[in-house]
Amino acid sequence: MCGIIGYVGKNPAVLVLLEGLERLEYRGYDSAGVALVENGHIFVEKKVGKIRELIRSLWGKPLKATIGIGHTRWATHGEPCEINAHPHTDMSGEIAVVHNGIIENYRELKEKLQAKGIEFKSQTDTEVIAHLISLYYEGDLLEAVMKTVPQLRGSYAFCVMTSREPHRIVGVRYGNPLVVGIGEDENFLASDIPAILPFTRHIIPLSDGEIVDLRIDSVDIYDTEGNRIVKDVISVPWDIISAEKGGFKHFMLKEIFEQPKAVGDTIKGYISRDYLLPFDLKSFRRILILACGTSYHAGLLGSYWMGKYLQIPVEVMYASEFRYADVPISDKDLVIAISQSGETADTRYSALSAKERGATVISLVNVMGSALDRESDYTLYTHAGPEIGVAATKTFTSQLAVLYGLAVSHSPKKDQLMERLSALPHLMEEVLGEAELIKKLALKYANKKNMLYLGRYLSYPIALEGALKLKEISYIHAEGYPAGEMKHGPIALIDESMPVMVIAPKDRVYEKVLSNIEEILTRRGTVIGLGFKEDKTLIGMSKDFIGMPEIFEDLSPFLSIIPLQLFAYYIADHLGLDVDQPRNLAKTVTVE
Ligand code: F6R
Repeated sequence: MCGIIGYVGKNPAVLVLLEGLERLEYRGYDSAGVALVENGHIFVEKKVGKIRELIRSLWGKPLKATIGIGHTRWATHGEPCEINAHPHTDMSGEIAVVHNGIIENYRELKEKLQAKGIEFKSQTDTEVIAHLISLYYEGDLLEAVMKTVPQLRGSYAFCVMTSREPHRIVGVRYGNPLVVGIGEDENFLASDIPAILPFTRHIIPLSDGEIVDLRIDSVDIYDTEGNRIVKDVISVPWDIISAEKGGFKHFMLKEIFEQPKAVGDTIKGYISRDYLLPFDLKSFRRILILACGTSYHAGLLGSYWMGKYLQIPVEVMYASEFRYADVPISDKDLVIAISQSGETADTRYSALSAKERGATVISLVNVMGSALDRESDYTLYTHAGPEIGVAATKTFTSQLAVLYGLAVSHSPKKDQLMERLSALPHLMEEVLGEAELIKKLALKYANKKNMLYLGRYLSYPIALEGALKLKEISYIHAEGYPAGEMKHGPIALIDESMPVMVIAPKDRVYEKVLSNIEEILTRRGTVIGLGFKEDKTLIGMSKDFIGMPEIFEDLSPFLSIIPLQLFAYYIADHLGLDVDQPRNLAKTVTVE
């Protein structure tokens, strides 16, 4: 949901900003812009479309500024056009702002400002920030921001600078992410760590309500009352190579192929005791898992495993549903909030609400220092490295590794079960070895308009996740469904034009799923079977077949998801779509 960046240092700011914006593009890509203090004036350049359009229009312009801010937009208020693109300036053109989030009371503020004779250029909510700061400005940018922040409602992060003080940028975090990067003779602000990884690994993640005054040689952080706050600098373990495509055509493909390592590194966390908890999971009355999207699908799998091994009630809810449902919560509940980014608004606020009502909250995140990481009682990290492709892949299987480990942590057979888990990276490599075959198959189905994904028991969340991958990157309508529920309605959709991907490893429901396949075949549906190699029965029933190595029932989801990720990827790529940045989506959803 929009990416923002700020730089103050000794190097040409435009280069730092553009490099950072390219890394932030996954957060939004409707339009982009930069503002620089050039020869004592604010210079603004913005363009509709991707960062490359902005780069093209900046090409050849001699920009020497060493301070600047930048933005890549995911439109909320005002259509994507040049006027609505950020940065926005005040009437004098001496104050420039980039903003991520929503100012909920902007209409009211706009009316008040217009009554004072202030003219607005855009339809955005952001512009009120620039005008308010201008109104309060009396020679000290920080002071003007301090007076502006209490007027704003909503959730936001913004960076502001003025040509009248061309040595400082002020940043504010309230609900949307903002991190400070510490360099030598240079400092940075960004929505996300990968944006500034080429320049520094020393980070201060800001908390809500914090305001930072960033200069070339100092970083001062305040609360909204103006009290100084001392914060620790963290060193992130990610390197720049992990945030590059490394020869792959897309980040998504690279990240699919990184799964054996991501899962392997996450499993190592058990050996290095990363996942030790200071309490007994079984001491809770219930475990409630809250998450959105792909993380929700991981949570669903976690609930099957935890139910089986911990033998306590486990519920899973979409965080976006939990927030406004009257779910009873008490101190006897353990909430596990799962979020790759750790910034998803629905997940964060649900976790906070559960915490307020007495629940113990564990978060499972991939981004160290993210809001959820800081706001929960305990954090478990997936060790997947930065995930740049908008469609989640390696973080999903890494989340599964942590959830499975938690589930079996009380089993008398836990050593044996963890031993089986550690065999996974090798088996995942084997599945990835079939990528070319899956590509051929994908091209056969690339012109379809609809697809069904069916699975039962542990393959049901995989059916949901496989369908989500296909629809989000290829724009083909796909539905995931529990195979046993077909007969209660969706079977009406089946005819010869409907491909049905059936995930059928030899597990406790295998024979039931074969009966479900019979029901599809009777209605002339086209079955693509995804099961164990050499499964002659399934091969015989399937028009096309994807084989995976035989594996212990619990762990089949780690393998079966890979062909489905690849299937979606190859279709989207074949259709010439923007795999890493699908339309209308953003990697981190910081609005409700
Ligand atoms: C799908 C996808 C999204 C995210 C969802 C939650 O590929 O990436 O559905 O899973 O937006 O994001 P996090 O895990 O960051 O909370």
